[in-house]
Amino acid sequence: MSPFEVTRTLPADATTAALRADVLAGLTSEPKALPPKWFYDARGSELFERITQLPEYYPTRAEAEILRDRAADIAAASGARTLVELGSGSSEKTRHLLRALPELACYVPVDVSESALAQAGEALLAEHPELRVHALVADFTAPLDLPDTPGPRLFVFLGGTIGNLLPAERTAFLKAVRGRLEPGDALLIGTDLVKDEATLVAAYDDAQGVTAAFNKNVLAVMNRELGADFDPDEFDHIARWVPDGEWIEMRLRARTDLTVKIPALDLAVTFAAGEEMRTEVSTKFRHETVRDELAAVDLDLKEWWTDAAGRFALSLSAAV
Ligand code: SAH
Ligand code: AVI
Repeated sequence: MSPFEVTRTLPADATTAALRADVLAGLTSEPKALPPKWFYDARGSELFERITQLPEYYPTRAEAEILRDRAADIAAASGARTLVELGSGSSEKTRHLLRALPELACYVPVDVSESALAQAGEALLAEHPELRVHALVADFTAPLDLPDTPGPRLFVFLGGTIGNLLPAERTAFLKAVRGRLEPGDALLIGTDLVKDEATLVAAYDDAQGVTAAFNKNVLAVMNRELGADFDPDEFDHIARWVPDGEWIEMRLRARTDLTVKIPALDLAVTFAAGEEMRTEVSTKFRHETVRDELAAVDLDLKEWWTDAAGRFALSLSAAV
C-alpha cells in the first residue's frame, strides 16, 4: 500500500451542491455574505500561500516561531502517534511537529483543497518516507470520517483558521472536536490575537494586492462552477476592523449598480453601487476568550504559548 492515500469523503457533485446552497442563501440574504471556504480552489490555495509570504501578513511567521520554539514541549505533552490536522493547507508549519514527534505513525491532513493536500503530501513523504499520510478531502465543519489510526492523537488547527468561523459555528466546531477526543488525546489551536487596528488592517489589505486577488477569487469560483458572470473589476476589496466582534471583515464592494446572472441557480442578483458582500471574518482572540470558549465545551486549557512579540498564540487543551 502506498504511504500516501487521499480519500474524498464526499463525491465531487456534493461539493457543487454545497456551493449552490451557500451561494443561493448568501446572495439572497440581506446583507449578502458567503462562507470563506469557497476561496480555496487551486488558485485560491496558491494565493493564500503568497499571502503567508507578504511583509504585512505576520500570523504565519508568528505561529511558525511558536511551533519552532515549542515543538518539543508539544511533543512531550501529547506523545502523539497520530496527528490529525484540520485545514492543513501546505502543511508547511506542521513540519516542526512532524520532526519533533518520535512516536508518530500517521498524519491525517484534512482540507477542502485537494490540490493543497496533494502538493503537501508529496513534499512531506520526501522528508518522512516512513510516515503513513492519509489525506482527507473534507469539510471540517461537517462530521468527519477519520481513518482508524493509533492513539494517542493530537488534533491541530493552525493558522488562526478557527477565527474564520462565526461564534456559533466555532462553538459547534469545538463541541464536535471535543466529542472525538479519547482520554490521552489533545487539541492544539492557533489563534491570532487582538492588536492595534492599523497592523490588522494592513495584514488584510496588502500593498501588492495579493489579498484583494484572494478575496476576488471567490467570484472566479462562482463563475466557473455555477456559470455566473461576475466581473472582478466591478468590485473593490475591503478589509475593515469590526470592534464589536473583534474581527477583521473582508468584503467585496460593488463599484456601480449591477446585475449578475447565476445560471446554475436560475438567479439574477442585483447589487446597488457601494453595496458590500461579506466574504470572510477573521476573529482575533484574547487569552480569556480562548480559555472560556474551550471551557464551554469541556476542554481544559493546559498550555498557552505566544511568539516573542505577543501577536499570536498556540493553546494546548484536553478533555476535562
Ligand atoms: N493551516 C494552514 C492553512 C491555513 S489556510 C496554515 O496555517 O498555513 C485555511 C485552510 O483551511 C485552507 O487550506 C483551506 O482550504 C482550508 N479550509 C477552509 N475552510 C475549510 C473547511 N470548512 N473544511 C476544510 N478545510 C477548510
Ligand atoms: C486561513 N485564515 C486564517 C486566513 C486569515 O488570516 O483569516 C485567511 C486569510 N484571509 C485573508 N488573508 C488571509
